[in-house]
Amino acid sequence: SMLEAAHENDIELEGKKIIVHFFTSFIICCFAGACEGSLACSTCHVIVMDVEYYNKLEDPTDEENDMLDLAFGLSETSRLGCQVI
Ligand code: FES
Repeated sequence: SMLEAAHENDIELEGKKIIVHFFTSFIICCFAGACEGSLACSTCHVIVMDVEYYNKLEDPTDEENDMLDLAFGLSETSRLGCQVI
């Protein structure tokens, strides 16, 4: 997932908002990943800045949407980084 890739590349982002160039798209992210991808938090919230890229992603599940509703600064192109493969 996007979250795993961030961690594997030693991107330590807890509590910080940064911009990452990722898969040819700019994404504002906070890759804390407090629940390690078990859909129990929204700390891996990302905003996909490239709408074309966003539209290529699989649709979020109902569980992801429920958790996204709790994310700070939710946008039309928000996703949970741990769910984006
Ligand atoms: Fe908790 Fe993504 S790390 S939902």
